[in-house]
Amino acid sequence: MLKAVILIGGPQKGTRFRPLSLDTPKPLFPIAGFPLIQHHIEACVKLEECKEILIIGSYTTNTMAQFVNDMQKEYHVIIRYLQEFTPLGTGGGLYHFRDQVRAGNPSAFFLLNGDVCADFPLKELWNFHAEKANALVTIMGTEATRQQSVHYGCMVREGSTKSVTHYVEKPNSYVSTLINCGVYVCSLQVFHTMADSFQKKQDGFYSGNGQTSPHPGYMSFEQDVLMQLAGTNKLYAMQVTNWWSQVKTAGSAIYANRHYLELHRDRMSKDKPCTILPDVFVHPTAVVDSTAVIGPNVSIGAGVTIKAGVRIKESIVLNNATVHEHALVMYSVVGQEASVGEWSRVEGTPSDPDPNKPFAKMDNTPLFNTDGRLNPSITILGAGVVVPAETILLNSIVLPHKHLTRSFKHEIIL
Ligand code: GDD
Ligand code: GTP
Repeated sequence: MLKAVILIGGPQKGTRFRPLSLDTPKPLFPIAGFPLIQHHIEACVKLEECKEILIIGSYTTNTMAQFVNDMQKEYHVIIRYLQEFTPLGTGGGLYHFRDQVRAGNPSAFFLLNGDVCADFPLKELWNFHAEKANALVTIMGTEATRQQSVHYGCMVREGSTKSVTHYVEKPNSYVSTLINCGVYVCSLQVFHTMADSFQKKQDGFYSGNGQTSPHPGYMSFEQDVLMQLAGTNKLYAMQVTNWWSQVKTAGSAIYANRHYLELHRDRMSKDKPCTILPDVFVHPTAVVDSTAVIGPNVSIGAGVTIKAGVRIKESIVLNNATVHEHALVMYSVVGQEASVGEWSRVEGTPSDPDPNKPFAKMDNTPLFNTDGRLNPSITILGAGVVVPAETILLNSIVLPHKHLTRSFKHEIIL
């Protein structure tokens, strides 16, 4: 039997995903029609041996209850949410709930960062791990550019055995282009290593020596486990070429949307309510005028109304929004219950990886550049925003419930 643990952080995390995370917690933000971490769950349940999925985070149980119920109904495995009493880091929550993970004595468990998206090759990862007799952790790794690699966990492997000899979390200078994808298989014995690290941290915390963790139970899986295991022949990395990306900024939601739509192409409804340029997801409850043209790479949520002559591409339209006659929406996210007026134009700029650089990932560009100006990115309309007729909105972010009265470009509208 196998299990999976998904780390989702809490309300203090994911600040770069604002304002999309103001109404919906980032792990539940819909990408290609499904909450971000439902894609993780789908990947796990595809593996018959995977019998239980534990979601660990510091969001309240209430915030997660509906989602967990829905998932439990949809997939026939045990899915539970475990709330940390305070953010305990990528390792602390896992260690705190170790008895829940160990219960039933699984052969191993997957550990997945909730803020990545990928064509998760879990079966291959599990087979790779199972072949290594002494492996405690196997990391899914991928190639990045030299320049971007330093924003990730970087590792060096031994050529023939693939054991990780050197691991540095977000190094200051170049270490390796092989990066940690935040997807792992762990044997239960990893909790012994965690116990040692935990003990050391406790000692440090109470003696006031060096470590300044926010909480004595705080542990980083990367610093306190992976770095300890490097060079001991207990840490391995499997390099993959599958599509993989982080979901940090709002712009990455559009990028992830495109790839998940492609991945789930076979599941898309064959009914075409209007002219559809694939790949497009339209929720069955959306009302779409037959003269609209939608796609490529668009997700339309539940209860959305799309009027005559509308053009939408490379965008996500969230539940119950309305796009009025002849409006255009491009590289944008239209929030829940937002309204785009007739003949209006809502347009953003894509922030895709550089197609001319092999292995390039998305740059998680900060909101503002060094001159204090907004960096061009996707346009976001927060929940309940009203864009009047015949206005243009370019590379702008509109916070929830604003009723605009004119056109804007490169602005945050508070
Ligand atoms: N439950 C819980 N509690 N989850 C947490 C906590 C916490 O206190 N802190 C972070 N997480 C979750 C986040 O929600 C996210 O899904 C994941 O753990 C990673 O956390 P970050 O702290 O944001 O790390 P990162 O994304 O910058 O870097 C990690 O992922 C990269 C790949 O995406 C590292 O593992 C890197 O080495 C790796 O390259
Ligand atoms: P996550 O998005 O879940 O990691 O949480 P967060 O948005 O609170 O970000 P985090 O605490 O990881 O980082 C705070 C700030 O540091 C971000 O807003 C960025 O400006 C910066 N930062 C962190 N990691 C990176 C990175 O990999 N690249 C760049 N350019 N900036 C980063």
